[in-house]
Amino acid sequence: MTQTSEPFIRIDQVEKRYPARRGEGTLALDELTLSIDSGEFVSLLGPSGCGKSTLLSMVAGLTRPTRGDIAIGGRPIQAPYTELGMVFQSDLLLDWRTVIDNVLLQFEMRGIDPRGHREQARALIASVGLAGFEAKHPWELSGGMRQRVAICRALVHDPALLLMDEPFGALDALTREQIQLDLQRIWQSRRKTVLFVTHSIAEAVFLSDRVVVMTPRPGRIHAVLDIALPRPRDLAVRESAQFSAYVREVGHIFQALGVLK
Ligand SMILES: Nc1ncnc2c1ncn2[C@@H]1O[C@H](COP(=O)(O)OP(=O)(O)OP(=O)(O)O)[C@@H](O)[C@H]1O
Ligand SMILES: [Mg+2]
Repeated sequence: MTQTSEPFIRIDQVEKRYPARRGEGTLALDELTLSIDSGEFVSLLGPSGCGKSTLLSMVAGLTRPTRGDIAIGGRPIQAPYTELGMVFQSDLLLDWRTVIDNVLLQFEMRGIDPRGHREQARALIASVGLAGFEAKHPWELSGGMRQRVAICRALVHDPALLLMDEPFGALDALTREQIQLDLQRIWQSRRKTVLFVTHSIAEAVFLSDRVVVMTPRPGRIHAVLDIALPRPRDLAVRESAQFSAYVREVGHIFQALGVLK
């Protein structure tokens, strides 16, 4: 008897159509099937409007597919899935709360007394290089520091799954490189499953085990690339022929799809 092990996330023939007042509405995603293993780092790369954010919100159980199913850990998603952390392009920090209280908000939102979790939050904040900033307010931090705080808030309750929607899109190039390295380190030490949306081909290749290349709307999977670069990856890996070959391959796919002209 062959034994097939259930992937951590199973997205099975998912379609999402947003209704319109009149007419057919918008078919955002179509026939999308993807399995993600526990601990995998998977990026979604595709043109604007191809349904990447929609897919994340369906995995989080915040939006329902109009067809098909999504299961996490073998259980169909029928309500918001809470064992996850989310990071968006905007950090969504509360300006009147300190850094540590922004991180601890994760517990408060879940109705958990945050007092027992201060040390855990402190350690996490230190691990992203922000020791000494616990009592500062978001407006006293740079964009990169703020986004690190947002990552801490997404991780402090130790979820198995991290959903990231263009988390570094608003950062300057240098900060972005550093935070990619930090994210890789956190991911390697904590073994989260990460579903990561980006518009940067190089960022997707640098961070991922697999890069999912999507078509223009309605978003379908056009190709899935296994990124066989050894880990941990340092910035020098981007100078390698293998790295450039992956970036070129994705570039060619987007040219063929008419996304890059
Ligand atoms: N709540 C909604 N109601 C109606 N249409 C929506 C809604 N959310 C998204 N859409 C439509 O679905 C399509 C996919 O949107 P989505 O935000 O998922 O794309 P995306 O790939 O994340 O784009 P971007 O890269 O610009 O963030 C778009 O055409 C968008 O207009
Ligand atoms: Mg989006």
